[in-house]
Amino acid sequence: MIIKTPSKNAAHEHEVTDQAVYQGRRKVLKQLGYTGALALLSQSAQANPFKWFSDDDTPTFKRNPLSFEKSDALINPMTQEGVATSYNNFFEFGTSKNDPVENAQGFVVNPWQLEVTGMVENPIKLDYDDLLKRFPLQERIYRLRCVEAWSMVIPWIGFELGALIKAANPLGSAKYVIFETLNDPAQMPGQRSRFVGGGIDYPYVEGLRLDEAYHPLAIMSVGMYGQTLPPQNGAPIRLVVPWKYGFKSIKSVVKIRLSDKRPKTTWELLAPNEYGFYANVNPEVDHPRWSQARERRILGSKLSEQRRIDTMMFNGYDEVASLYSSLDLRSNY
Ligand code: MTE
Repeated sequence: MIIKTPSKNAAHEHEVTDQAVYQGRRKVLKQLGYTGALALLSQSAQANPFKWFSDDDTPTFKRNPLSFEKSDALINPMTQEGVATSYNNFFEFGTSKNDPVENAQGFVVNPWQLEVTGMVENPIKLDYDDLLKRFPLQERIYRLRCVEAWSMVIPWIGFELGALIKAANPLGSAKYVIFETLNDPAQMPGQRSRFVGGGIDYPYVEGLRLDEAYHPLAIMSVGMYGQTLPPQNGAPIRLVVPWKYGFKSIKSVVKIRLSDKRPKTTWELLAPNEYGFYANVNPEVDHPRWSQARERRILGSKLSEQRRIDTMMFNGYDEVASLYSSLDLRSNY
């Protein structure tokens, strides 16, 4: 599917967002008493906020080309690959933006199994290779809008989440889909220490309503920029839900469980008044500590390659609006 971008999104403004905005979540940790997480920002990162784009971050993880149906439209200028793969949130590997690329290179993603279980008629457990054989891959160029008010445009490769769920044949009573990241403290330093991992109780858990999960825009991604996912972006398989804040797009998924009960998700548990279950991108509902009306679009590492733009309702993916026609989006943030 080709996702077209409304022209208003093409507006270019060569401004730079205050760094304090995207460091805001570390303030939550501080409020919650996790002062150690703040100390994790290295001296150089504090002195130079663009350290995470430095040339030393040379990934050593081997990525392979993927065969996929290529999309034929470019929406917005895309974010440079080197930036999308070195400025990351993956708290299992540390809370600074450059921690994942530095700490995840030895991450073992083969063998990997993903199970779909719970309220289904046909529980399945698939190897990574089975997944690639069973579900034809497509390219989807999506905007990724983080709750911290920065955004990127990324060419993902993946398949529709709905196809995977249908393969397990959910029971009629199933209403929610719950996702879990690998729990492997031996490999993930953030799972060994509450300070390194931002005080999260791992494994990282996310969830969607079943009808949201069936929306064709929701994909399981196995690659980006024509190749397999690097570990810092959630190798070997992650969720991408482009109309929701980035924290819903859970990485390195090992388990998908169907349930009739809404789960408590990771960020909802950590700060329920700040991060809700729905987390739909919404410029009219501010985060309690910052505005969500605008965002800093990151295209490259130079200041001239970052611009402040208006945030769009549902991140511009209006086709999902009917999922929420009977929901108050202010109280269901
Ligand atoms: N998944 C796990 N397991 N752990 C995380 O810390 N961070 C989330 C999301 N998925 C996160 C995660 C957040 S806050 C964002 S913005 C996106 O991943 C960032 O994805 P990217 O690093 O590929 O841009």
